[in-house]
Amino acid sequence: MKSIVILISGRGSNMEAIVRAAIPGARVTAVISNRPQAAGLRFAADHGIATEVVDHTAFDDREGFDAALAETIDRHAPDLVVLAGFMRVLTAGFVRHYEGRMINIHPSLLPAFTGLHTHQRAIDAGARVAGTTVHFVTAELDCGPIIVQACVPVQPDDDADALATRVLVQEHRIFPQAVRWIVEERVRIEDGRVVVSAAPAAAALINPALDVA
Ligand code: GAR
Repeated sequence: MKSIVILISGRGSNMEAIVRAAIPGARVTAVISNRPQAAGLRFAADHGIATEVVDHTAFDDREGFDAALAETIDRHAPDLVVLAGFMRVLTAGFVRHYEGRMINIHPSLLPAFTGLHTHQRAIDAGARVAGTTVHFVTAELDCGPIIVQACVPVQPDDDADALATRVLVQEHRIFPQAVRWIVEERVRIEDGRVVVSAAPAAAALINPALDVA
């Protein structure tokens, strides 16, 4: 049974989607938040999952926080660390420690719109499509090898909230799917790019119907 540790900072709807997917061969062993008030902690506790808080405001620097976070994560012996709306920039040493076994979801079609305010920036740029990306975490923010993406249309009257809502539906589809592929050991990195073996459903996932009028 593989151990999955999920890191959140807030609502935790992506964590919830992964827990609800009940992926065979894997168990979510802990949900860890850097914010004590993160709403997602309640869902995890209600589902019998260990919850922990490593409050970043209690640390003077990133190194101290990351060391405490790694110590907390490693007590759960994770095969996979999942950043599900975890809104902290991580140090290079922390990222190296989990190299090849830490993934993140980002609300844009990377490499476009790394960082914050992705939906407003996509709208402001006049993008016709937006979306979401699940990728391995590397030291450079939002830049690691891409595992799966899904796109949605940007509608002429979209504001950031409307677009975020449409993208979130796709996040909840592709994030559990990516975790499942990794648990099934179908994901490898070749020359900095992800190869997913024997994934017949991949094409459908990557191209949900683009409902563009
Ligand atoms: C999600 O949209 C996720 O893609 C984003 O935060 C939201 C968390 O929602 N992550 C980032 O922006 C990371 N750069 P959730 O707490 O309901 O899963």
